[in-house]
Amino acid sequence: MSQNNALPDAITTIHRRKSVRNFTGQGVDQAQLDTILRAGMAAPTAVNRQPWSFVAITDRQTLDQLRDGLPHAKMLNKAGAAIVVCAMPDKAHDQSLAFAVIDSTCASENILLAAEALGLGALWTAAYPNHDRMAFVRKSLRIPDNVIPLNVIPIGHPTGADQPKDKFKPENIHWEKW
Ligand SMILES: Cc1cc2nc3c(=O)[nH]c(=O)nc-3n(C[C@H](O)[C@H](O)[C@H](O)COP(=O)(O)O)c2cc1C
Repeated sequence: MSQNNALPDAITTIHRRKSVRNFTGQGVDQAQLDTILRAGMAAPTAVNRQPWSFVAITDRQTLDQLRDGLPHAKMLNKAGAAIVVCAMPDKAHDQSLAFAVIDSTCASENILLAAEALGLGALWTAAYPNHDRMAFVRKSLRIPDNVIPLNVIPIGHPTGADQPKDKFKPENIHWEKW
């Protein structure tokens, strides 16, 4: 399934992942987008309901439209693609909004990790839970009202300006009991 024989191992990819906000402007291969979308759908979900849909965007005009309407997604300017992860409460366990969002968040993290593993960059930019941003993304992409646009994930070739942060804090771990 991968296009690259020398993919890094999972732990290396996890630690190398960072929010990439500086892209070269180069396009993203369709095969790489396919690998990334497959990684998204490999995520765990409550009772295996898979309550999600993905809007994959490569059209420059649509990327620019999203950039113009989202205050914290200006890096779409030079991204080659974007994926909007959509949560679908109607399909979720107990038709629960919480499960739909949790499950779609798992898919989103897989997407971020897959992009990193392929040598691309990506980041989560927020739509949910901001009503104005969700309404704007829905309108721009014709997403139905019962579907929640969770985020917009710009994907592209990184310039190298963004680096991973060391966030390990031993005091956040409670062995056995808090
Ligand atoms: C729910 C969520 C919303 C976020 N929204 C934005 C956003 O709108 N714009 C942005 O530039 N980064 C956004 N981020 C990325 C965070 O700023 C970033 O993950 C955090 O600073 C840690 O950096 P790292 O991803 O490089 O480890 C978001 C991340 C999460 C998980």
